[in-house]
Formats: sequence, C-alpha cells, structure tokens
Amino acid sequence: MIPVLIDCDTGIDDALALLYLAALHQKGEVNLVGATTTAGNVDVTQTAINTRWVLDQCGLGHIPVLPGQPVPLKVPLTTTPETHGEFGLGYINPGPQHISQHLNQQHSPSNWQDLWRDAMSQHADLRLIVTGPATNLATFGPTPRTTLMGGTYLYPGNTTPTAEWNTWVDPHAAKTAFAQATEPITVCSLGVTERLTLNPDSLQLLIDALSDAPIASYLPEMLRFYFEFHESQGEGYLAQIHDLLTVMIALGKAPFTTREVTVDVEADSELMRGTTVADMRGHWGREPNALLVDDADVTAAHAELLRAARNDSKGQ
Ligand code: BDR
Ligand code: CA
Repeated sequence: MIPVLIDCDTGIDDALALLYLAALHQKGEVNLVGATTTAGNVDVTQTAINTRWVLDQCGLGHIPVLPGQPVPLKVPLTTTPETHGEFGLGYINPGPQHISQHLNQQHSPSNWQDLWRDAMSQHADLRLIVTGPATNLATFGPTPRTTLMGGTYLYPGNTTPTAEWNTWVDPHAAKTAFAQATEPITVCSLGVTERLTLNPDSLQLLIDALSDAPIASYLPEMLRFYFEFHESQGEGYLAQIHDLLTVMIALGKAPFTTREVTVDVEADSELMRGTTVADMRGHWGREPNALLVDDADVTAAHAELLRAARNDSKGQ
C-alpha cells in the first residue's frame, strides 16, 4: 500500500484525480492519508469544500481534508470560473452544507502543515502529489518523493503563450519549490498531461465502470461544463484531465519516461510570468532539480482508470 498525500485545487480534473485515488484506496492499493488544498481554480475554502465533497461521494468521509495557504506568495489570487465553473465542479454546486457538516469537523491535526509533517514522519515512503499551484509546497519547504502538475516546456501555454495555469497563478511558489528541492521533483507538464482526454464516450465507460458509486451520478454535469469549455477553446468536445494523469504517473500506474533537468521559473516579469524553463544541456551548471516527464502512455492510463473504477473481479 503506497501512502499518499494530495495537495490540490479541486477543479474538475482534480476531482477525477481524487476519484481515482479514492478507488485505489478502496482497493487497498494506496493509503490516502489526507488531502490539503491550494487556491487556484477557485479560492482555498471552495477547493477544500470540493475536495471534502468528492471524497465523501467516494465513501472516504473519514480522510482529513484541510485548506492550505489562502493566497499566492506574492501576486494577488486569480481564479478560473470560466474553466471549472462558479464553484469549481462544472455545473455541480457541492453546497454550503459541506462547510458546516464536514469541513469544520475536528481533525487532528487541525492545520495543513501539521498534517504534512505528521504524514511524512509516520510514512517514510509517502508520495506527495501536487495538482494545484505550488503555494503550499513552497511554504512547507523541501519534500521527498514529490510529483507536481505544472509548467510547460517547449510547448505552448494554456494561460499565456508561454505559461501553464498552475505555475502562472503562483509563479514565485513554483520558482521557490524548484530552488529549494533537495531531490528532483517529478514534473508532469502541459505537453504530456493534456494528452489524457475524456469525451462523452469514454466518460460513459467510466460511469458504467463506477456502477452505483454515488460520485458517478454527478460526473455528467461536471464534465459537460469542462467539455463545453474545451470546445470554446477550439479543442473539441472533450476535456483534458491533467491531474488524473499526474496521479497515475506519481504512483507508477501508467508507463512514462523522464529526463533529468534543471528547472527555473520566471516569476517577476509581466509578459513572461509563470514561464518554466528546463536546462537540458547543463548550461547553467546547476544540480538537476526535476525529473521531467516527456512521454506517457495515455491508452494504458484509460485502461487503468476503468480498472480502478470497477468494484468487481475485473477491477483487480
Ligand atoms: C492545471 O490547471 C488547472 O486548471 C487544472 O486543474 C490543472 O491542474 C492545468 O493547467
Ligand atoms: Ca488542478
């Protein structure tokens, strides 16, 4: 059982990453020890509400969810309701009742940094997976066995011509996370993660695999919004599920290849805000701080998602 801590900004693709992690937890393949949230797709309270709600719908109401840092290190918070919907889950509103009923339940520990510290001290082989801006990661300090969704390398951005959303939202945090890393961070960047897509047909396969799991009934209205957003961007009626592929890579559940590089981030210029650069030839003479994922098998990732979602002998 692989111990896992996820730090996310839930978000529709984060929600699918959580759904997948929850399925692996139910199967005894991972031990999801907790989830913390960043501000990004929506604000940090809403990302925590959404994360709590998704885990509840997946039968994991006992797993702690704590909000992390409320704003980026230096720049004002920008959120993206046009991408993920007013509440971050497409056309679904998880409802304010989740604030009172669940989020405010007393957890021990009660703050996100203690949760990270406890998880790392109790699980020597803990994997940390960050699927939102790197604000918490930068604030906490160097972490082992970390996988990060963010950045774009020699590939067009989805937020500016050169920047990917998570890194653009908090560029100083991404810069700090790479600068302080004491072991290479596994980096899942846009050119790879946007290759894992769902469309109405593959969504239906997922819903069928989930069968009577409560989360399945909400997926059509969550994904309809994400399909419409991608269509409005000229991508077609589909959705890129960045954070799900990131989780599979972090856990070695889909084949992928990496190269060792040194990453730095442009944080202070207006034009190039959030631009990520990988030194692949040692020009800077600095230690490698990243394992940049340069390829992943998305066909295998689709099969893995369905395997995890099935709650029968075919799901083993
Ligand atoms: C990233 O940005 C967010 O909108 C998604 O959740 C994903 O983590 C992709 O650029
Ligand atoms: Ca995300």
